[in-house]
Amino acid sequence: MSLIDKFGRVHDSLRISVTDRCNIRCFYCMPEEGVQFTERAEILSFEEIERFVRAAAPLGVTKLRLTGGEPLVRKDLAKLVARLVAIPGIRDLALTTNAVLLDKHAQELYDAGLRRLNIHLDTLDRERFRQITRRDDLPRVMAGIDEAVRVGFTRIKFNVVAVKNLIEPDIVPMARFCRERGFEPRFIEFMPLDSQLLWGRKKVLTADEMIAMISEEIGPLEAVPDADPRAPATEYRYVDGGGQVGFIASVSKPFCLNCNRIRLTSDGKLRYCLFAIDETDVKGLLRANASDEEIQAVIRRNVSEKWLGHEINSAKFVPPPRPMYAIGG
Ligand code: 5AD
Ligand code: SF4
Repeated sequence: MSLIDKFGRVHDSLRISVTDRCNIRCFYCMPEEGVQFTERAEILSFEEIERFVRAAAPLGVTKLRLTGGEPLVRKDLAKLVARLVAIPGIRDLALTTNAVLLDKHAQELYDAGLRRLNIHLDTLDRERFRQITRRDDLPRVMAGIDEAVRVGFTRIKFNVVAVKNLIEPDIVPMARFCRERGFEPRFIEFMPLDSQLLWGRKKVLTADEMIAMISEEIGPLEAVPDADPRAPATEYRYVDGGGQVGFIASVSKPFCLNCNRIRLTSDGKLRYCLFAIDETDVKGLLRANASDEEIQAVIRRNVSEKWLGHEINSAKFVPPPRPMYAIGG
C-alpha cells in the first residue's frame, strides 16, 4: 500500500502548510510589503486537513510536519495538533515556527501532544535580526525559546538560512548557542524560493564552508556514521561529544534521491517537491466529500508523477511558481 514513485522512493512524510501568512518578513522568503495572501475561504479548515491525513495515513504516511508561512498565526493551532496526533498510524509530528508567538503557545502545544520543534532563527543579534526579518522581534523569539524549554521541549532544532556575504558572522554564534543549550542547529543553504528572485549561486554559503568555519572556531566535526540517509540534513557531531550540527545542502549536494516527502499547501494543493511546477488540487475533493479511496487515488497519482529531482544545478532549472511562504518549507 505504500506510496512508491517511479524511482523506488517510499513516501512516508507529509508537510502541511497551515497558512501562507507570517508575522515577520525574512527577506529571502517574503517581500517587505504588498504580499498577496490567500483568502481565508480558500484555506483548508482543520477538519479538512484532518480528513486528508486520515486518508493519507493508510498509504504509509507516518510523519507530519506543520509549516507556514508561520503556523502559529493560525488560531487554535494546538487543536489541530491534538487531532493529528490522534490519527492511527501517525507516529511523529513536528512544527516549524519562527517562535515569535511561541511564548504564548508552547504550553498548549506541548499539552496537545507536540514534542518536536524546529525554530527558524538566523541570528542572536537584535539589529541583524531586524535587518533580516524587517521586524524587531528577537526579544519575543528568545522568550519563546525559554518558554518552550520550560514546558518540556527537548532537542529543539534551529533553522539558519545560509546566505553568503551576509550570514557568516552568525554561523559560529548560532552554533555555540545551540551547543551550550543542548539544541541542534541546521544550516540550510539558501535556495531559489524567494518571491523576489534574489537568489544566485554566488549567494549560497555552502555546507563545506560552514563546516570549516565551525571546526576552526569551536572544535572539529565528524560525520555521524549512522544518521538517517533519508533525512534532508547531513548530520555532523563535535568530536568532543558536544552535540550535533546538521547541514541541509540542497544546492551543493542535492539529496533528492532520498526524498520521502510530499507537501500539502494551505490552499489544498498537493506537491511532490518543494520545487514542483505542477500541483494537484485536493481541496475540491475534500469540499465535495470525496471518499477516502478517491483522495488516495489522487495522492498516488501525484506521487507517480514525481520527478527525479530539482535541477537547481542545471540550466534547465525553473524556479517554482510559488514562493516558500506559499509552499511551506
Ligand atoms: N532558502 C532556504 N531556506 C529557506 N527557508 C525560508 N526561505 C528559504 C530560502 N529561500 C527556510 C526557513 C524556514 C524553513 C521552512 O525554510 O528556515 O524555517
Ligand atoms: Fe516568515 Fe518563515 Fe518566511 Fe521568515 S522564512 S518570512 S519566518 S515564513
